[in-house]
Amino acid sequence: MSDDIRRLKVGILGCGPISQAAHFESAVKARNAELFAICDVADDLRDRMAATYAPRKSYRDYDAMLADPEVEAVIVATSDAFHVPAASAALEAGKHVLCEKPLGVSVEEVEALKRDVVRSGRVLQVGHMKRFDAGLQSAKAFIDAEMGELLALKAWYCDSTHRYAMTDAVQPPIIKSSKARKPEQDPKQDLERYLMLAHGCHLLDTARYFAGEITEVEARLSKRFGAYCWFVDVAFANGTLGHLDLTVAVRMDWHEGFQIYGQNGSILGKTYNPWYYKTSDVDIFRESTGTTARVLGADGHFYRRQLEGFADVILNGAPMAGADIDDGIASVRAMTAIARSVKSGGPVRLSEVSGAV
Ligand SMILES: NC(=O)c1ccc[n+]([C@@H]2O[C@H](COP(=O)([O-])OP(=O)(O)OC[C@H]3O[C@@H](n4cnc5c(N)ncnc54)[C@H](O)[C@@H]3O)[C@@H](O)[C@H]2O)c1
Repeated sequence: MSDDIRRLKVGILGCGPISQAAHFESAVKARNAELFAICDVADDLRDRMAATYAPRKSYRDYDAMLADPEVEAVIVATSDAFHVPAASAALEAGKHVLCEKPLGVSVEEVEALKRDVVRSGRVLQVGHMKRFDAGLQSAKAFIDAEMGELLALKAWYCDSTHRYAMTDAVQPPIIKSSKARKPEQDPKQDLERYLMLAHGCHLLDTARYFAGEITEVEARLSKRFGAYCWFVDVAFANGTLGHLDLTVAVRMDWHEGFQIYGQNGSILGKTYNPWYYKTSDVDIFRESTGTTARVLGADGHFYRRQLEGFADVILNGAPMAGADIDDGIASVRAMTAIARSVKSGGPVRLSEVSGAV
């Protein structure tokens, strides 16, 4: 890497698990970004991360980081409930924002955030990092250029009971602090809602990435032996028939993927747990040639690639490859609609939902 590359000066809010496992390393390794500042109210955590990753500045107070004129962009890596206030404050201070998923926890707050984004003229990208999986990108390119009309999409995201044995083996040791700032009410008290926010938003964003706007959902939820399984019938605006399966946790290996039937071909994708940093196996069958193609050996650091994409938008005016504010809002609306549909037992239109997920 040459030294004359312009690097986006990034400040990271939150030194918790996601920053330790993904964002700090991403900012240090990125070709076009720099880990300029970190911020956390937990002094022990922040000092330890400053010693490990050597940012130029280390802030206890978020407002002080936002007042630093050298910080150009903020990664919001806090609990879900703090995303919107933290993103809004950053925009107000003139910073660009990469906000962890889900964008927020209620329809009203994310709609209000959109007004802040528009007013500020800054870039806001949502951390739906699967859009930076080269396998998913190859599927998207085929859909946009060659696939013709879509008939149907099935997608599944099934967390595994064995995920921690695997993530503990590959992630850095995650440091916890009793001083970390958490929402007043523990989000895990309402597990049904927590799992939808934590995992459902990934599945919904993947479905929307491929098949576009979701207009209506009808969902059923099965709860047994501590496991949760949502089966969701999905109507897409373009007429694609959709079915989503969100299960936490299956008694098997991580099970995530998608199947798409189109006019000129089909796609079958298998996605790995993200912490393997392994690009999805995506088989694209072309009816015209009768052959299947698969991306192999691509760079699978989705978190670093999402940061590089974000920096490219800001520094070079590149088109946004990630999820924008409207995508973030659509995910929150879809999660809310699924929750309402589970309660009512009937279909729910996304345009009509309000309130908290
Ligand atoms: N994209 C992914 O694959 C992925 C994976 C895991 C988590 N996440 C998301 O990342 C987010 C963060 O998760 P986490 O487990 O790291 O959270 P966490 O709550 O454990 O850590 C957040 C840290 O931010 C600090 N903080 C919060 N508000 C602050 C403020 N105003 N000023 C200073 N410090 C503040 C806290 O003290 C805490 O240390 C969540 O929204 C989660 O959904 C994404």
